Amino acid sequence: MEEQIKAVVITVSDSRQESTDVSGITLVGLLLSFGAEVVDKIIVPDDLEKIAQTLEKMADRNDVNLIITTGGTGLSPRDNTPEATLKVIEKLVPGIAEAIRLQTMKKTPTAILSRGVCGIRNNTLIINLPGSPNAVVECFEVIEPILKHAVSLIEGKKVHCAN
Ligand code: MTE
Repeated sequence: MEEQIKAVVITVSDSRQESTDVSGITLVGLLLSFGAEVVDKIIVPDDLEKIAQTLEKMADRNDVNLIITTGGTGLSPRDNTPEATLKVIEKLVPGIAEAIRLQTMKKTPTAILSRGVCGIRNNTLIINLPGSPNAVVECFEVIEPILKHAVSLIEGKKVHCAN
């Protein structure tokens, strides 16, 4: 049986509200089309502690196995999403962030300015995406093929890729 993705979308932004959260709404749409359940959608300001607390709270829920953040990955002083993520994860999954930058920079050269990271906390995969709606679409294309496999491995439902 295929792994059911139970996702939380977190938009990191000082300025976005529910009605203006195009990236968060886009991400929810992509996840639903993919067959995922979207358990929650949250907007959190670009504050390192608040982001870390939200990530921790959501990852520690037992009905969540994927968290995708959008925003706060750039070079501005208030871009704190990667630091907050690094603070809460137990294991890094560098290949996902590397692939996102490598693949999407072919279309969008500024993709290399995203410092997004990816890791695991409490059997939950956390992936940082940049904040623009266009970036969310481009980056989701890269992660979509591996999401179910990654979540199965994290939950121990697949022991090894060779099996
Ligand atoms: N990646 C893709 N695929 N498409 C984009 O439009 N925007 C870039 C980059 N990554 C972008 C992208 C830009 S302009 C910035 S500044 C960084 O993501 C960080 O964006 P963020 O601070 O909104 O997370």
